[in-house]
Amino acid sequence: MLTGPASLFSDLDVDVKPDAPLGRLTWYGVGGRADLLVRPATIEALQTLARRCARSGIPLRIFGSGANLLIADEGTDGIVIRLDHPAFREVRYNPTGTERLLKAMAGADMARTLMDATRRGLGGLAQMAGIPATIGGAVRMNAGGKFGAIGDAVESVTCITAGGQRVTYPAGELRFEYRRTNIPDPIILSTTFRLEPGDPVALRRRVKEIFAFKKSSQPLGENSAGCAFKNPVDPVTEQRVSAGRLIDEAGLKGLTRGGAKVSRHHANFIVTEPGATATDVIGVMEEVRRRVLDDCGIELEREIEYWRRGES
Ligand code: EPU
Repeated sequence: MLTGPASLFSDLDVDVKPDAPLGRLTWYGVGGRADLLVRPATIEALQTLARRCARSGIPLRIFGSGANLLIADEGTDGIVIRLDHPAFREVRYNPTGTERLLKAMAGADMARTLMDATRRGLGGLAQMAGIPATIGGAVRMNAGGKFGAIGDAVESVTCITAGGQRVTYPAGELRFEYRRTNIPDPIILSTTFRLEPGDPVALRRRVKEIFAFKKSSQPLGENSAGCAFKNPVDPVTEQRVSAGRLIDEAGLKGLTRGGAKVSRHHANFIVTEPGATATDVIGVMEEVRRRVLDDCGIELEREIEYWRRGES
């Protein structure tokens, strides 16, 4: 366990939990502990912490809602930051006096933000129905699906740099690509969205339709981290193809390693049972990757983030 880093935050307004059971906080519910879980109470404390970590070369990772994340069984080193104090969960409408803008801090809950905007008759985020995330996590990876991605509604993103400064990037300077953005590391502080006024009843119906589609095609009731692999580009057609379909066609539904298996409902979901380990999940992923490559010559790339010691 790390002891030195305590000096990085002992004078700051933060809560610190050494040896925190981080794996249990993820949607998978598997994996090890974090040497240090730090929850800043103020933006200033977060800025100072970012600067000090960069200067000392201490890895810093941001934990969102753990929905797209696997923690290695041996745990993670460095500092894991959780932005769940009220200062980081605030959502403000009309933040600059401009109607239709919504500013959400990085730790705000995606589902709650979507429902609240919908109730107020503001559309533009329905594509995020049924995607569990914090705003910061969803924006960082441009989360989304068939109906669009979160980047479609972004007006600007405010980050904290490694030097501890706040910098705001307008959408025109940002690239939102398939499950990827060019938003600089290390920290997203807040995002401003541009929304469209509409009839709350119609907007709500749309959100429900998208959620129902997801529920019918994906194992939402089981433990998983959503899609395990990105949809790869088929080298022949140069179009993205469904990783789920490729895994299914390779006959891998139901493939099991310990307590982890390829879902029978949607093959791009690896689901866990009580007693599963992160090693089981990684074992299934490696086997899937190898066998899909053998089957159709296409290499799958992990969508799920994997945190382990010695890597940041
Ligand atoms: N399919 C199969 N077998 C399967 C799964 C899918 O044959 O086991 C077929 C389906 O029948 C369909 C096609 O593959 O014809 C595409 O499937 P689906 O509509 O489920 O979409 P997907 O490409 O597998 C993507 C996103 C999902 C998102 C859905 C719906 C990726 C990697 N996946 O899945 O996102 O929810 O579209 O919008 O981009 C996620 O990112 O975590 C995620 C789940």
